[in-house]
Amino acid sequence: MTDEPVTSRRAFLAGTAAAGAGLAASAAAAQTPDPLITEVQEWASVFGDPVDATPYGLPIEFESHVVRRNVEWLTESTASSINFTPIHALEGTITPQGCAFERHHSGAISLSKQDYRLMINGLVERPLVFTFDDLMRFPRQISTAFCECAANGGMEWGGAQLEGCQFTQGMIHNMEYTGVMLRDLLAEAGVKPEGKWIYVEGADASSNGRSIPLEKALDDVMVAFFANGEALRKEHGYPVRLVVPGWEGNMWVKWLRRIGVYHQAVESREETSKYTDLMPDGRARKWTWVMDAKSVITSPSPQAPIRHGKGPLVITGLAWSGHGKITRVDVSVDGGNTWTPARLTGDVKSKALTRFHHDMVWDGSEMFIMSRAVDETGYVQPTKQALREIRGLNNVYHNNGIQVWWVRADGEVENVEIA
Ligand code: MTE
Ligand code: CO
Repeated sequence: MTDEPVTSRRAFLAGTAAAGAGLAASAAAAQTPDPLITEVQEWASVFGDPVDATPYGLPIEFESHVVRRNVEWLTESTASSINFTPIHALEGTITPQGCAFERHHSGAISLSKQDYRLMINGLVERPLVFTFDDLMRFPRQISTAFCECAANGGMEWGGAQLEGCQFTQGMIHNMEYTGVMLRDLLAEAGVKPEGKWIYVEGADASSNGRSIPLEKALDDVMVAFFANGEALRKEHGYPVRLVVPGWEGNMWVKWLRRIGVYHQAVESREETSKYTDLMPDGRARKWTWVMDAKSVITSPSPQAPIRHGKGPLVITGLAWSGHGKITRVDVSVDGGNTWTPARLTGDVKSKALTRFHHDMVWDGSEMFIMSRAVDETGYVQPTKQALREIRGLNNVYHNNGIQVWWVRADGEVENVEIA
């Protein structure tokens, strides 16, 4: 960190204190002795945990609230259900596997590397079966990508409903994957010229079969076995899942067991709404695979209210686009009347989560805060109202509308919509 921002931040901390605007802790420290400073604390007088206390560590107990949560009324059974990433409590861009949302159609299965097989068949010169060890002998690549369920935000189509961005936008995670490119495996099998689509299936009871155009399969699709530096977790498809950058989560087949090459899309068993969005006139938008640009302020938000009173305030959030890189995120604190570009913090990667920050001084009055993402195609994230005008209310998928949070003067935050 350079000297400059520190100095200027101190300057406005001092400025607000002088103006009598809160900052109670530092003001009190000047008068009353703080035992945390003046007394020897217990943790400074005993041994801490030995090195082997937790061979595989968990977050410290003070962070135990930062967990995936589900919404009980949403689905009948938790085996065919979804839970949500606590995005309101995370920072940076990488989602730890342990709190990354899960979506299973028939529960998470335990499939060992020894029992793992991947078949490639259909319109190929050489149908092949790979063991896990076979896959480990192909050249590896690394790629960071967001995985967003097409239903993310689906409960909000009709109006503001759930209290917290964990529930309204938390069907998303972003991991650094290591694996082999699907095109290398397909080249090994030799795709016949008639092959135009692949059909991918998982080893779980639902199989989650999905069709993907060959063009995408040969582009950036990865057969992944590591996430964030370690083996995939069971719930994310151990030992092998498909990574389909920028495309909706349901195509990211977990426990990947078969890739068939065909001349057209194979529609799978429990067909109807797959890849389609129902429009107001009863027609459907088909093959809406790519996730359009979206963003959300993660803090402050209903589960992350402002506790420190007026003065310096860090607004932060996430932005992403299935079409490439995020180029700008605008933040409004006055309900969309005026917008200021936020800082895109850290590396901006294509088809991956981008972190933004907006530093401001809060005067303690209510605010309507919102963020608006722009991607490298020039696409601008729409308002929820604009989306509804085009797509109506029959649909639950692909809600990438702008989220509005109402920050009250007491610092509590509510999910609202403004006309
Ligand atoms: N793959 C299999 N085999 N079975 C499934 O139920 N769910 C899909 C997809 N892949 C699913 C699957 C859906 S709808 C989504 S959104 C993503 O996995 C979620 O991936 P995650 O559980 O790692 O978050
Ligand atoms: Co999904």
